[in-house]
Amino acid sequence: MLSAEENTLLTHVTGDAPMGQMMRRYWVPACLSEEVATPDGTPVRTTIFGERLVVFRDTGGTVAVVDERCPHRLASLALGRNEEGGLRCIYHGWKFNTAGACIDMPTEPGAFGFRDRMKLQSYPAREAGGMVWTYMGPAAEIPAFPEYDWMKLPRDQYAVMKVGERVNYAQAIEGAIDSSHSWFLHQGIIWDWQKRAATSVDTSPRLEAEDTDYGFRYAAIRVPVQNPDTERYIRVTLFLVPFTAFIPRPLDKTTYAHIQIFVPVDNERTIFYGIFFTQNDNPVDEEAMRREHHCVPGVDLDRNWYKLANEDNWFNQDRAAMKNGSWTGINGFSNQDMACQESMGPIVDRAAEQLGTSDIAIIRMRKRMLEAVRRFQDGEPLIGLDPDLPHDRIRSEQLVVPIDQPWQSVGAYAGEYKPKAGVPV
Ligand code: FES
Ligand SMILES: [Fe+2]
Repeated sequence: MLSAEENTLLTHVTGDAPMGQMMRRYWVPACLSEEVATPDGTPVRTTIFGERLVVFRDTGGTVAVVDERCPHRLASLALGRNEEGGLRCIYHGWKFNTAGACIDMPTEPGAFGFRDRMKLQSYPAREAGGMVWTYMGPAAEIPAFPEYDWMKLPRDQYAVMKVGERVNYAQAIEGAIDSSHSWFLHQGIIWDWQKRAATSVDTSPRLEAEDTDYGFRYAAIRVPVQNPDTERYIRVTLFLVPFTAFIPRPLDKTTYAHIQIFVPVDNERTIFYGIFFTQNDNPVDEEAMRREHHCVPGVDLDRNWYKLANEDNWFNQDRAAMKNGSWTGINGFSNQDMACQESMGPIVDRAAEQLGTSDIAIIRMRKRMLEAVRRFQDGEPLIGLDPDLPHDRIRSEQLVVPIDQPWQSVGAYAGEYKPKAGVPV
């Protein structure tokens, strides 16, 4: 439960809202690389923290993230002509390069330096892990780029999907770190998996959480089917401030590891990026993964990546199927998640909830994010921005371990790493 003030501090990300200003200090995905695959191709319109942007790849292959509004009279540069080393506004022909410099101003020939003074806002852009990333904070504060381990894999060993959600970012994250919902909401799918390899059938795990230098991690501790008196089945999920979750890597190494990133579009919308990557060097079939997760552009998603199944059509819930064995009447993980999350309203009233012991991770996320934003307001070092933080060695895991082994030994850094003194934890 949060007060109305705390809820606003947690959820609002546009304009001067402190949370959005804090998030600008981190690298953030702007779109998929495939959306801007071709030099001089169609520019992509994207909104982050309520700011409307355009991503484009110029003739030479350089990717840029710029303000959507042409500085002349603010027409959209997403409609612009992308050719010959820049983006030209179709309204009066002003043209800008990837750095935001005005390189042609045909309506103002010989205008005494007017063209040279004209600047289009351009943010640093970088491609990694199938995505274009940008940094929207003050230039002097730009942090090291987070080199996650999946980014180092060949492109065919990971799949990336993108889905728009009509909810605030925090609500989407609360769905991702809500361990107890899977057994109910996703039960048809989960139970099929469990039939294949039942590690545990314990539906009320003990949850424990602890803060870390990147955010926090929590363990769901269950009694396993095998050796229930001497072992525990532990799943450790990680949350990296400000919007990334590492789902526990599957025990079975033929199954993919999974990371989720939730980028705030504005206060009431979020773009979800889901990454599935190999644990055994085998290729990942990206198209099949998107089909399986009902995230295929043009089939499950509209032109702006939002689900075609939404509140307007009652998420295509099939009541007849519910009478015949389906728990939700809704097909697919992400459709089920989105139906529940969107049904709560775009910003849930956190003063009206009744939280239980199964909500420990959600409570911790809110607490950690509020702490993070208050640090920002106080000018203190931000969580997870230590340049020595080894992003590629942060691990989420699930393991069956002896009953007396602390859960903290699961999902720790790969290899030895201890944050140096002074790094915020
Ligand atoms: S509005 Fe873009 S050139 Fe006039
Ligand atoms: Fe879910």
